[in-house]
Amino acid sequence: MDYTNKGFGTKAVHAGNVHDKQYGALTMPIYQTSTFVFESCEQGAARFSGQEAGYIYSRLGNPTSSVLEAKIAALDGAEATLATASGMGAISSTLWTVAKAGAHIVADGTLYGCTYALLAHGLTRYGVEVTFIDTADIEAVKAALKENTVAVYLETPANPNLKIADIAAVAEAAHAYNPEIKVICDNTFASPYLQSPLALGADVVVYSATKYLNGHGDVIAGFVSGKADFVSQVRMFGVKDMTGSVLGPQEAFLILRGLKTFEIRMQRHCESGRKIAEYLDNHPMVEKVYYPGLASHKNHEVAAKQMRDFGAMISFEVKGGRAAGSKFVNSLELCTLAVSLGDAETLIEHPASMTHSTYGPEELAAAGIPEGLVRLSVGLENVEDIIADLEQGFAKL
Ligand SMILES: Cc1ncc(COP(=O)(O)O)c(C=O)c1O
Repeated sequence: MDYTNKGFGTKAVHAGNVHDKQYGALTMPIYQTSTFVFESCEQGAARFSGQEAGYIYSRLGNPTSSVLEAKIAALDGAEATLATASGMGAISSTLWTVAKAGAHIVADGTLYGCTYALLAHGLTRYGVEVTFIDTADIEAVKAALKENTVAVYLETPANPNLKIADIAAVAEAAHAYNPEIKVICDNTFASPYLQSPLALGADVVVYSATKYLNGHGDVIAGFVSGKADFVSQVRMFGVKDMTGSVLGPQEAFLILRGLKTFEIRMQRHCESGRKIAEYLDNHPMVEKVYYPGLASHKNHEVAAKQMRDFGAMISFEVKGGRAAGSKFVNSLELCTLAVSLGDAETLIEHPASMTHSTYGPEELAAAGIPEGLVRLSVGLENVEDIIADLEQGFAKL
């Protein structure tokens, strides 16, 4: 059946599924195998040369992962998707595929800490030049592009300060300069439920599927979506030869399981996220709230244009700075002090000392990440219980 014109929830449940011809299992079995048996040497040769479709070895593809990849491609509106062992696996495999010594990458300065480290301290060791800018400023994007620019890399909403860039405008600027430039968008915070970067003009979407896509805090995984040709290059070079970042079939199964409830989870996340952002925005002990759904957000209009809703990631500054922020976080009881996000549990963390500890003090300031910023991933608990916990935390300050 063709699910192209079906609803998001229907796609999340059905798209990409294959009928189990052997036993008629409803759910996709876990093909826990490293390798696949050939009927003959000739068949093995035909598979290796690409003349015959079929599995060879699980680093190149696995039936459980293939179903998951087809489902994510349907949710992303992509020609193809590749599953990887982590979000960093997706990002590094993609960047190793586009970059080589002498190439130039334009990247936003506000990124997940390890992505920033990969760009600032990793790829630069191998002769790749990286220019960090603010991709919300289109003139800055245009000014940074050079003859050897191979990619523009951004997150929107960005981790951890929920900065919003206009994906269509960034893609237009990059492609007007050189249509070969790959605009790569990390869509982890939004997920395909809230935002479709490929439809907005991006060439590649990367995810930490550890977050909303799996949604249950029990898997590390990632995805790369885009044109079939490019995704195949990431699979056959970026992952196969460079990173080996292969998703295991157990993890693929767990993500398939998580995706059955993806739409309803996201609806609840967004509903509670909005209520908590408003609660924090009106709280006398809160200095500033960073949430794209608030009219006070610097790029609220761009967010409203390109996102279907505003999600459940909220950052805020407690009055009294870093010390007050730490005391507040330490006194919470229901909200759990942990990095990661997009889980059923409400998670809270302090980016400057945790997820963004790869940034030095000056880099934090340049990226617009206040040292006292607290990042909240609103979970699926009843919203009044989350608010009551935040309230008792504020009361202890
Ligand atoms: C926006 C973003 N991208 C990528 C990653 C890396 O993902 P993973 O931890 O699955 O490697 C993270 C992790 O927190 C993230 O927040």
